[in-house]
Order: sequence, then C-alpha cells, then structure tokens
Amino acid sequence: MTSASPWIPVALSTDIETGTSAGTLVNGEERVVWRDEKGDVHVWEDRCPHRGMRMSFGFVRGDHIACLYHGWRYDTSGQCRYIPAHPDLEVPQTIKVPTFAATERAGIVWMAPDGADAAELSTLPETAEPVRSLFLDLSTNAALLAVTAAPPEGYRPVESETGTVTLQGNDVTVLIAAQPRNAGRAALHITVTGHTAAALRRDLILWATELRNRVEGQMVEAA
Ligand code: FES
Repeated sequence: MTSASPWIPVALSTDIETGTSAGTLVNGEERVVWRDEKGDVHVWEDRCPHRGMRMSFGFVRGDHIACLYHGWRYDTSGQCRYIPAHPDLEVPQTIKVPTFAATERAGIVWMAPDGADAAELSTLPETAEPVRSLFLDLSTNAALLAVTAAPPEGYRPVESETGTVTLQGNDVTVLIAAQPRNAGRAALHITVTGHTAAALRRDLILWATELRNRVEGQMVEAA
C-alpha cells in the first residue's frame, strides 16, 4: 500500500459474518458494513433514503438488505428494489443509498470513499488471522505512534505507511491498520500471519489491552 492509498480499514473481516450488518464511523460519517449471503462485503452510507433509519439496524436477506423501519429493500448496488407498502410499484432509480468501493485483504474490510482499485492493497497478505480491534481516544497517527513506541516484546516495526504499521516477530507478521473514526478517536484493526497459534494470539490480545490501558491512564493523568 502506498502513502497515497485511498483505502480505509473499517472492520475485521470476521466481525462481519455472512448475512449480518454493523454500523461504524469513518471521519465522523456513519457507515454500514454488511455481508450478503454470497459472502461479498459492502460499505454504504448508514442511512435509509426513506426516513433516515440506520441501515445497520436492517436485515440481510440473500443479496438484499431491508430497512428495519418500513422494510424497503435495497440490492447490492444500493438501489431500492421493493417497497412493501406499494408491492406493485416500479421503484424510481433515484431511490438509492450512496455506496463505496469495498474489499477485503489481510483479514480486514477496507473501503475507499472515492472509488479505488483493490490492487492498491496487493502488498498486504491476502488473508490473515484476526487478533482484535482496539478503540483509542487518539488520532490515527498518535495511535500508531503509541504502537511503534511500545511494540509487543519480540516484535519490531518494519514498515510504517500511512494508516498502517507492520510488526515483525519470529515467523510472525502483525498488521495494524488504523481507522479514523473521528478527529480524536481511532480503531486499530490487528491481524496476524505466519505462526498463528492460539497462545500467540492471546499474547497479542493482552499486549493490545495493556496498550489501551496505558493510553487511557496517560489521559487521566493529563486531565
Ligand atoms: S426509513 Fe427505511 S424504509 Fe422507512
């Protein structure tokens, strides 16, 4: 991934199971991440064009997602295809949820606000095992600096591109991808490739929890 990459991490792949949806924030904007029953992932504006209900509260049915409020159904392009109160209506093309480019790489769901080529992510491993997502009251840059300042014992930062840090351990590579939820809050999505035994992942989860506790402790001291 280059420093000009438009891709933003929004979730661990394993957190968006087939047939489910979840809401998230990207630069203060509400987004829904959902996975259709074929397994494809989608990232949209989290707002139904009808009366503004969050689409993340909706239900995935096959390759459609239905709004919780009045049941309007949208296909994977965001186009509304069915309105239960008017079952014979040919739904106008203008009733559409804004959508974004979405893909998966290294065990993470990525979105590109202005469209992008998924090949931009080709330097990352194709798949990876999830560790956890970590939420910190820091900007993405400050959150990644906290990681490189105190990596897990036995790991060293080998690469630091915009929005990601890679930590190299013994036969293990850890990717940490930072999601800007808003100006002062980041989510770090952490995945691992290589020797991914349960004990190793448990150690990484402990390290991440300690990192969060340390950051929160520093904030309390500074207050
Ligand atoms: S608000 Fe979504 S269908 Fe009415």
